[in-house]
Amino acid sequence: MSKTLTSSSFTPWNISERDFPKLGSPSEQLEFLLNYAILAPSGHNTQPWLFRIAHETIELYADRTRALPVNDPLDRELTISCGAALLNLQLAIRHFGYTDVVKTFPNPDDSDLLAHIWLGDPREETEEEHLLFATMTRRHTNRLPFQNWDIPETLLSIMKKSTIAEGAWLEIIEGEDLRNAVADLIAEGDRIQLADPHFRRELAAWIHSSRIITRDGMPTYAKSIRQLLDFATPIIAHVIRTFDIGRGQAAHNRELALGSPVLAVLGTEEDTPAAWFSAGQALERVLLLGQAVGVSASFLNQPIQVIQLRPKLQTLLNKSGYPQIILRLGFGSQVKPTPRRGVSEVLLHE
Ligand SMILES: Cc1cc2nc3c(=O)[nH]c(=O)nc-3n(C[C@H](O)[C@H](O)[C@H](O)COP(=O)(O)O)c2cc1C
Repeated sequence: MSKTLTSSSFTPWNISERDFPKLGSPSEQLEFLLNYAILAPSGHNTQPWLFRIAHETIELYADRTRALPVNDPLDRELTISCGAALLNLQLAIRHFGYTDVVKTFPNPDDSDLLAHIWLGDPREETEEEHLLFATMTRRHTNRLPFQNWDIPETLLSIMKKSTIAEGAWLEIIEGEDLRNAVADLIAEGDRIQLADPHFRRELAAWIHSSRIITRDGMPTYAKSIRQLLDFATPIIAHVIRTFDIGRGQAAHNRELALGSPVLAVLGTEEDTPAAWFSAGQALERVLLLGQAVGVSASFLNQPIQVIQLRPKLQTLLNKSGYPQIILRLGFGSQVKPTPRRGVSEVLLHE
């Protein structure tokens, strides 16, 4: 572990199901379940969620103070991240023997309130749910190159079905021409993003070593920037802030896209906050399904994040709806976890 990161940044990953307060009050049980929600992935590891427990119900809020106005001006990825946290919470509720009852966007006057979640009737989790629950503490974004090993078709087909069940779709990029075209868009996205000093400054702010105390953001080992620029941590943030490193990063990511066994696009029929929220649930399900059998993933979302490239990706895919996330999937070496804020830091008290 990097000596600049305090060990408490990682304790959330050591959550044990044995600590579930079986005899506790519903509020205590709900608070415990949030330990799983906070392990979800999020753009730049911003962890843009807040929770409140009231009347035996969890309220899930988007924390827009953690928005990324340059990279994600509409809070699309922010909402996807909250959807991923919701899926973790649902799996935890099912694991501890209850039906998860969810009402999304319960208050039309409060767009920050994304969901009400409460414990329904007792119910036994399915085998798949058990597997996904057990995988949550092992899921990490893996930006390293993957082995050239095929991913079983059955896994891909299960992933596709699961995304449909969550109200989204997953399209596998098939054929060399299409894969090359998508990889070119990824590289173009990198060049456009990294030529923008505002984008670079925002990215650097979430990689910078000042995030040690806040238990969020991306350590340099996770961002694979080290492969690109072999400097010490504070210097990396300085370099990203100051120089246009787009061409190098574009070439690196193009190679990663082409070298990965599977490149896939997760999308939705609509492009609304509700669709983004569902996309987040679908995304986390895909990530957990993969990790459960040792398949890692990382994100190459540049052609969706760069507004003028998204229609080009839509044309290439020739599919109705809106691409939301681009994933590369494959078998890779183990990677370290990224920091997490504990439940007490994301729980609103009033
Ligand atoms: C909606 C969303 C968008 C993301 N976009 C990117 C991305 O464009 N590039 C990238 O390298 N990682 C991306 N990530 C991965 C996050 O950086 C990662 O989840 C976060 O740093 C926490 O690390 P972990 O996934 O290992 O827990 C994204 C994650 C989410 C949920």
